[in-house]
Amino acid sequence: MRSCDEDMVFPAGFAWGAATAAYQIEGGWDADGKGPSIWDTFCHAKGKVFQDHTGDVACDSYRLWDEDLKCIQQLGLTHYRLSLSWSRLLPDGTTRHVNQKGVDYYNRVIDDLLASNVCPMVTLYHFDLPQALQDRGGWQWPEITKVFDSYAQFCFQTFGDRVKLWLTINEPYVCAKLGHEDGLHAPGHGDLGVSVYLVGHNMLRAHARAWHSYDTLFRPTQGGQLSLALFTDWAEPWDPSNPLDVAASERYMTFSLDWFAWPIFVSGDYPPEMKARVEANSRTQGLPFSRLPQFSEDEPSIKGTADFFAVNYYTSRKVRPGPTPPKSLGFEGDQQAVGEMDPSWPVCGISWLAVYPEGLRKLLKYIKDTFGNPSIYITENGLSQVGAVELDDSQRCSFFHATWMEVSKAICEDGVDLKGYFVWSLMDNFEWSDGFGVRFGLFHVDFSHPERPRTLYRSGTDYAQLIAKFKGRSGTEH
Ligand code: BGC
Repeated sequence: MRSCDEDMVFPAGFAWGAATAAYQIEGGWDADGKGPSIWDTFCHAKGKVFQDHTGDVACDSYRLWDEDLKCIQQLGLTHYRLSLSWSRLLPDGTTRHVNQKGVDYYNRVIDDLLASNVCPMVTLYHFDLPQALQDRGGWQWPEITKVFDSYAQFCFQTFGDRVKLWLTINEPYVCAKLGHEDGLHAPGHGDLGVSVYLVGHNMLRAHARAWHSYDTLFRPTQGGQLSLALFTDWAEPWDPSNPLDVAASERYMTFSLDWFAWPIFVSGDYPPEMKARVEANSRTQGLPFSRLPQFSEDEPSIKGTADFFAVNYYTSRKVRPGPTPPKSLGFEGDQQAVGEMDPSWPVCGISWLAVYPEGLRKLLKYIKDTFGNPSIYITENGLSQVGAVELDDSQRCSFFHATWMEVSKAICEDGVDLKGYFVWSLMDNFEWSDGFGVRFGLFHVDFSHPERPRTLYRSGTDYAQLIAKFKGRSGTEH
């Protein structure tokens, strides 16, 4: 059942969404009994974030949810992806103490979405670990998996009668690498080549536990679906005729997407090349064991713990081999692949993001071919503005049109089973270490105004038109 435009095709029931995350929009950082998270701590320590911006107020969505809802309705979204602030619900991270005001807030959000015929997709964890759990070791603490599972069960129990699409963890790659290797994200650690793998490992274990809990305890009555959102660039060789560049670009994918997707969708274990390389480098460093941890047979299995594939795509890299690792080199030495932007790709003012919509189509095909043709949601995709703000954002309009065309081709020419597409982001918000200097919204937010007015960009109008065209024709069901 497909609905065709002159040049684009999207299946019936396609999810048209936009995404946000709690810390990036909510503000109310200590309102009504919320506990602090690692991002509160990180931002309050000076010198970590662009111009020492914080998410203390951000878009003030904790107070201004009604305004967000109007934006969602104005776009005509069928789906809205939000995340729950763990420490708003459970101030010390554990179910020993529940903050009812936090529960009330999310109940209202979910109920209002459903009353507006918008399906919520809910992320349990989007970078903002309760500080109380960080104080016990955070994602490096082995017991975090059980605490996360209790939190997840609490959320399924409390909201799962209405929420049918769940994501456990957003971008374990980014949490592990930027938070525990590069030190650019909270908690800001940087011990090369060790914590990064431990954090990734515990996130996989935590995710798997929560999936099994959902599967056995909640799915029979609630009937929803659960996955995790994986981040990757699309990587291709600098010189496709050079086997070393080809191998390096494959390694780039292995150490980003496959690191998490391979255990879940293929084997229950890490990709063989990743295991071999980290082990060999660990041995060269004189360590008695690999820095990449092993899964235990006594724990719930990792394989099969996703009901769909969720991917966040922004940009691509041209890859060639990195230098042979000296003894001290961490993750990048293990990966030994250097990714750069092709000079022909337009840039948008943010260092890591170059425009390459074709990369998304190639990535979707890669996921189809590598991971057994799963159902896929693009849970984030977007382009930012930096510096002078243009409400008539023509570069972003062109980017979105080119992207939607590539997505459509992935569906109708490559046979990718794509279920939905979410723009990052509904509105400008706190862009992590770039603070408010980088704007990804479909709505502009005036952060200098106490009421944080939201104004539609031209790209937002274009998205609303696309949704209206296809939603109407395909008779979207959700
Ligand atoms: C994250 C978002 C972030 C976006 C743009 C993703 O990695 O999930 O929280 O704002 O990229 O950087």
